Amino acid sequence: MLSLSQIRMGRNDRAVLIGQTGTGKSTLAEFLLHDPDKRNSVAFDPKASETLEKWTGMTRCGSLDDCIYEAEEKEKRRIIFTPDAYSAESSTVQDRLFAWIYERGRTRLYIDEATALAGGATPSRYLIACLNRGRERGVSTLTATQRPARIPLNILSEAQHYYVFKVLMLTDQKRIEELTGIPIEEQATLKRFEYFYWSDLTGAYPRKLILQLGEHHA
Ligand SMILES: Nc1ncnc2c1ncn2[C@@H]1O[C@H](COP(=O)(O)OP(=O)(O)OP(=O)(O)O)[C@@H](O)[C@H]1O
Ligand SMILES: [Mg+2]
Repeated sequence: MLSLSQIRMGRNDRAVLIGQTGTGKSTLAEFLLHDPDKRNSVAFDPKASETLEKWTGMTRCGSLDDCIYEAEEKEKRRIIFTPDAYSAESSTVQDRLFAWIYERGRTRLYIDEATALAGGATPSRYLIACLNRGRERGVSTLTATQRPARIPLNILSEAQHYYVFKVLMLTDQKRIEELTGIPIEEQATLKRFEYFYWSDLTGAYPRKLILQLGEHHA
């Protein structure tokens, strides 16, 4: 069994969480965000998730200006940005958010659902900058999605860590197999809350794991 510290992302790494609704993506994300090596984080919560509502020790903001104020002026380290439904899918709001993260540097950006990204296959160029050129600036990204076949390929192809829960659609299962080598038949063996962890940094065969709740607060 791997210890939790062995599935943590490196300080400036990129990672993705994949799985159908209710599999435990946001729950695992909380653990990956509370990383002693990465003290600044911003969670983008476009669907006002009930799970994120329960996270403690975070500063909650409904507008991007508040996020920037809390982070820059009040030096709050852990921010959750939960916009209203209209702003959540606005390309202008998303562009400003990702531009701020990129310019700020030294931050882990968490996107709680990538299908909410504006722009289809070509999202904000600042998000692309965070993904492709963030490392030098200390920008790390963690992206969750229910539908890996429907999100920009950069997010998936730039990731060094994959946390793969069960998905329903064959197109999503195929995408996972192409990216991680985890065969569709093996994905089908995943039970509730179980996931495969695969990292291209180790090259090791994907390991099947489950988060014991309570463990991540230890
Ligand atoms: N490892 C676990 N053990 C026990 N309960 C868990 C575990 N992971 C998640 N849960 C519980 O399952 C529910 C769904 O988890 P979570 O919100 O993390 O799923 P999700 O994949 O983010 O779903 P969605 O795609 O709808 O956002 C929550 O109530 C959470 O507390
Ligand atoms: Mg979730």
